Amino acid sequence: MSAAGEAVALVRAGRSLSEALAGLAPATGQRAAVQDLAYGALRNLGLLDALLAELLHKPVKPALHALLLCALYQLRARPHAGHTTVDQSVRAVSRLEPAAKGLANAVLRNYLRDTDALVARCNSEAAQYSYPQWWIARVRAAWPQQWESVLNAGNLHPPMTLRVNRRRLTPEQYLARLAERGISGERVGEQAILLERPLPIETLPGFSAGEVSVQDAGAQLAAPLLDVQQGMRVLDACAAPGGKTGHILELADCNLTALDSDPARLPRINDNLKRLGLGARVLCADCSSVALWSDGTLYERILVDAPCTASGVVKRHPDIKWLRRESDIDRMAATQAGMLDALWQLLAPGGKLLYATCSVFPQENAQAIASFLARNSAASRLPLAGLDSGQLLPDARHDGFFYALLEKH
Ligand SMILES: C[S@@+](CC[C@H](N)C(=O)[O-])C[C@H]1O[C@@H](n2cnc3c(N)ncnc32)[C@H](O)[C@@H]1O
Repeated sequence: MSAAGEAVALVRAGRSLSEALAGLAPATGQRAAVQDLAYGALRNLGLLDALLAELLHKPVKPALHALLLCALYQLRARPHAGHTTVDQSVRAVSRLEPAAKGLANAVLRNYLRDTDALVARCNSEAAQYSYPQWWIARVRAAWPQQWESVLNAGNLHPPMTLRVNRRRLTPEQYLARLAERGISGERVGEQAILLERPLPIETLPGFSAGEVSVQDAGAQLAAPLLDVQQGMRVLDACAAPGGKTGHILELADCNLTALDSDPARLPRINDNLKRLGLGARVLCADCSSVALWSDGTLYERILVDAPCTASGVVKRHPDIKWLRRESDIDRMAATQAGMLDALWQLLAPGGKLLYATCSVFPQENAQAIASFLARNSAASRLPLAGLDSGQLLPDARHDGFFYALLEKH
């Protein structure tokens, strides 16, 4: 409970949840429980915040506030273990802030005593959907028919999906290998297998030998859409950790350059390619500063898997809901426009550029592409089979993505 509270407090102070958890190093055996608590609290933070506001009569320090949020989450997740949770939480509070022990005890017991009435009073949209109000308003404006399902999908537990390396075996062969180990899965795409239950990668047959990778089914659409043929010059401009790089190379023997501007993420491209037994030229560079890294080579295919608000992947990263600011949307859209303009110069005539984000905000997606097309008469947008608008909205089976395939005349 203490470590989860610390992680939530760090997220509220602006750190990402993965960084926060990595820095805490809870005792062996506790890691999974700490993660469950911290992820669960952040998924449900809108409601938990509102409940705590009802229960507290004066402000408390951020660390105590975060700990009480985790305690409330645990009480909601395990209603039958209420008294044990209260005892554990009060012990954690007494280590953090001994003088607040009585307050914590009263808050949590009041919650147990009055749960239904308290929850009924938390009727704001931010509490009901557990997103910031501005986010709810943006999603509703963008997707008037689907906004609730988009928001609710972001609060689900993420599924685990595998990409079968078609150079090694077929999805049916891999499903049979899973079945031999008593693992159930279902084919949900060309190379995609959705596991019935998430599993540690060490338990997956052939993982270290590169037979499969972990990749969301929506993300697995990118490489086939790019339509790479044998021997082509291909640029993967925002490549780390290399999920889509590996997929492109599994599909075709091509001459691939993978860039990423983050030196900390770059080694993961090499690790992934090594595990898959594939090769690419991997460079640390800002793809928009073309003059600094390009030798003038034109590429027949370019993938721009652009940095974005990541609003389509909140079920994997619930901290994103609370770390983003509304102004990030315009800021990201400006970065994305600069990237598209810079990389377009490197596309060979007749070549194709696939623009991708994991966002559900049109400013980063359809609007970004409409503006790009308006300022580039040599570009046209190609239709994508089965994905008319280019927007894949998130649901229980996959994350949210946007794809636009552009061709240069
Ligand atoms: C959505 S992620 C890419 C995911 C990756 N394509 C995959 O499938 O595994 C976006 C990446 O863009 C990188 N990035 C951000 N700005 C960049 C820039 N100016 N030049 C190159 N890479 C950049 C980030 O470091 C991040 O790794």
